[in-house]
Amino acid sequence: MCGIVGYVGEQHPIKILLDGLKCLEYRGYDSSGIVLQNNDECQIIKSVGKISNLEEKINNSKLIESNMGLAHTRWATHGEANEVNAHPHKVGKVTLVHNGIIENAKELKDRLISDGVEFVSETDTEVACALISYYYDKENDIKKAIEKACNEIVGSYAFGILVEGIDKIYAIRKDSPLILGIGEGEYFIASDISAIINYTNQYILLDVNELVEMDSSGYSITTNGKEIKKEVLTATIDASSKEKNGYPHFMLKEIMEEPIVLENTLKPILSDISSLPDLKQYEEIHIIGCGSAYYAGMIGKSLFEENGVRAIAEVASEYRYKKVLYDRKTLVILISQSGETADTIAAMRKAIDNNIDTLAIVNVKTSTIARESKNQIFIEAGPEIAVATTKAYILQVAILSLLAYSCGESDSKVIDDFNSIPSLLREVLDRKDEYLKIAKDIYKNDNIFFIGRKLDYSICMEGSLKLKEVSYIHSEAYQAGELKHGTISLIEEGTPVFGIITEDDIREKTISNVEEVKSRGAKVIVVTNSDIDGYEYVVKVKKVSKYVQSLLVVPVLQLIAYEVAKLRGCDIDKPRNLAKSVTVE
Ligand code: G6P
Repeated sequence: MCGIVGYVGEQHPIKILLDGLKCLEYRGYDSSGIVLQNNDECQIIKSVGKISNLEEKINNSKLIESNMGLAHTRWATHGEANEVNAHPHKVGKVTLVHNGIIENAKELKDRLISDGVEFVSETDTEVACALISYYYDKENDIKKAIEKACNEIVGSYAFGILVEGIDKIYAIRKDSPLILGIGEGEYFIASDISAIINYTNQYILLDVNELVEMDSSGYSITTNGKEIKKEVLTATIDASSKEKNGYPHFMLKEIMEEPIVLENTLKPILSDISSLPDLKQYEEIHIIGCGSAYYAGMIGKSLFEENGVRAIAEVASEYRYKKVLYDRKTLVILISQSGETADTIAAMRKAIDNNIDTLAIVNVKTSTIARESKNQIFIEAGPEIAVATTKAYILQVAILSLLAYSCGESDSKVIDDFNSIPSLLREVLDRKDEYLKIAKDIYKNDNIFFIGRKLDYSICMEGSLKLKEVSYIHSEAYQAGELKHGTISLIEEGTPVFGIITEDDIREKTISNVEEVKSRGAKVIVVTNSDIDGYEYVVKVKKVSKYVQSLLVVPVLQLIAYEVAKLRGCDIDKPRNLAKSVTVE
């Protein structure tokens, strides 16, 4: 959600900035822009929509000579996605790009207006820019001006800043990610390392209110005017993992990677289950996440409960504001691929503030959640580029399943099942023609339902979310037994209904519910691990332990969602309005 890249060095920055923006596309955006500077000269180019639109404008412009610039992808929050609201914003001599939300923007804006400042956009970013510019005019010291402004700003921000007449880049952050990249005679800022990995793998993680000043001869970092030294880290991501490697879309590539990433993540843990944190000491477990991470949490909750462990799964945006009774020895498990989801960070901090232990299941090792949580388990998904998560979700479920398993009796049969999942999953993924046939039959429908009970219901939630995210078809998931209390009225002749039936003890109950929709004309697609027939489509996967069953079922739904979206001509990897990393509330 919003992406920032900045460059200062020996080269003209335009190629580096555009390359960086393309690498950050996965975060989600609806407009973009760049600024180039050369002492007193400053050139801003912005565009709505895809980066290719910006590129076209840039190609049609005469660019100034420059060795420094900033670039930004904006995901609209304050004000619609148009060119005026797109970043960079410039007030006086100060040009700014911003990721985050200024919560007291209105109050600051009113104050600045009464001081005679005029605004052209509806954005909170322009307010931040004006505030810095206001203090710069007064103090004539840009670092002081930035610090003063930041002291007054309430909310989250990562800022990249240029000042006319000063050939340096400034950057500072709070609650939105930003790194400083270090090359040879060139320096970068970026929302994450993927934006600059083609140029350098050396970087520094910036912490709250650390102010960077950099030019081609070097950089300094200060907090409250005092210079500090920070550790330089080496990124291990391989630039080629950001390529599609022959697949038409990242989503498909990432689904196909599920067996290998499962192997990489599970192998070391399965060889020594005791390496997992001991959860038996806790009386209650709260599993918190957003979107698919929450649905992974729902599966975890069911499995913990089956093992006699009290557990809840809750959406982070609710959990952070609700009254939580921490009256038992509680563990809060945070699920997040990016580790930067604003609501999940807030939920984590709430637990920490209440002296509650936290365990993060996270993909990005340098992320805020990875760094601030007490304990961490890293999923080895590698970069996930498609906005709709697939392989990271699968790994989140796998880790939660292992944790739930570790709370009960050990059973070598279950461990065998965990070990065999990657190869069983390969077989499931190979059945592409079956999924394509189903997709061809349903892709023109306006409404698609998913029904299941217990753990199968959690699978339905993810299946339904995946479908609506990438295909824009309206879809709902329901507990199968609840359907007849209202929703069944929506079932018409030909309405596709997915029935997920893997839970042995309530198989017959769910079948009855599936019959209810079938007799009202629904086109039924059953995904099951047992011998069921009599429906339009039955996708059968191997029956395995309850801990790993969903790992064979959800990928079927991911692939069907993918094929449906493809048939509908959707922008599969970057669905409209969505952001991969939701860094604002
Ligand atoms: C966004 C993404 C989802 C993801 C959710 C949580 O909404 O589009 O795919 O599940 O954020 O992201 P996280 O990085 O915290 O797992």
